[in-house]
Amino acid sequence: MSLTPATIMDGRKVSSERLLELGYEVALLTSQFGRAPGLAVVLVGDHGPSEAYVGMKKKACESIGIASFDYRLRADQDEADLVSCLDALNADPRVDGILLQLPLPNGFDEDKMVQRISPDKDVDGFHPMNVGKLLLGLETFVSCTPYGVCVLLEAYNIPVEGKHVVIVGRSNIVGKPLAALLLQKQKIGNATVTVCHSKSENLADITQSADILIAAMGVPRFIKADMVKPGAVVIDVGTSREVLPDGRKILIGDVDYDAVAPIASAITPVPGGVGPMTIAMLMSNTVTSFKRRMGA
Ligand code: GUN
Repeated sequence: MSLTPATIMDGRKVSSERLLELGYEVALLTSQFGRAPGLAVVLVGDHGPSEAYVGMKKKACESIGIASFDYRLRADQDEADLVSCLDALNADPRVDGILLQLPLPNGFDEDKMVQRISPDKDVDGFHPMNVGKLLLGLETFVSCTPYGVCVLLEAYNIPVEGKHVVIVGRSNIVGKPLAALLLQKQKIGNATVTVCHSKSENLADITQSADILIAAMGVPRFIKADMVKPGAVVIDVGTSREVLPDGRKILIGDVDYDAVAPIASAITPVPGGVGPMTIAMLMSNTVTSFKRRMGA
């Protein structure tokens, strides 16, 4: 058992600090170059959680002076309409970053649409070119949630070098890029990384050997106390929605927080942990894209 209470890693606080710094930078860049960095957000259909995410991204843009451009397509529109929209945004000089909110409705080829975005404006870091660069340790847009996890670890002075990081979940958006990021020989990296998934045998034995355990498989409260080494750092990327008997909707992580927090040395809550970091990193990638494009 860990003797001292776990540090609660406050993603809201770290995210606000990052956004404040970015706000100063955006003000300077805007006066220097005569235009603000611009982020285009494209939403297809009316997927409830996506509407909420898009709203938060727009609010974050407004709060730090990034120009946001909203594009909405109906779920029954043709893929060709989305292609035209993305092509126009690729060519639009006011737009430094393009975010195509996923998932797309049935009938849209997600891989094809993501690949239609210019890699130079792919602030989500989802384009195969950028994923490949990340794997090779080259400078690129790092996808926002993995980037946010690393910045949060850094903000709490949690070293990853030489540590055993176990990631549960192998999604293209979180598990795979996070493994690449933590493995690289750079500032945030040099970890020993194990990636587990639904077919992994003896999962609890593996998670118990983690110095840093990252839950990112999207199964609510999956990580129980007996799967965690006392003193481990536990990062929860899960965001499942649950409706309480009184009708209130709440977000639930992949970690059984109440059971795991007493034995962890540090832990992220849900909500208020990794989620806010994702948005801050999207803003950071947009500013980076602006600077690259303007030669700043
Ligand atoms: N859907 C869920 N998370 C994300 C994200 O980080 N980016 C995009 N584009 N869609 C998402």
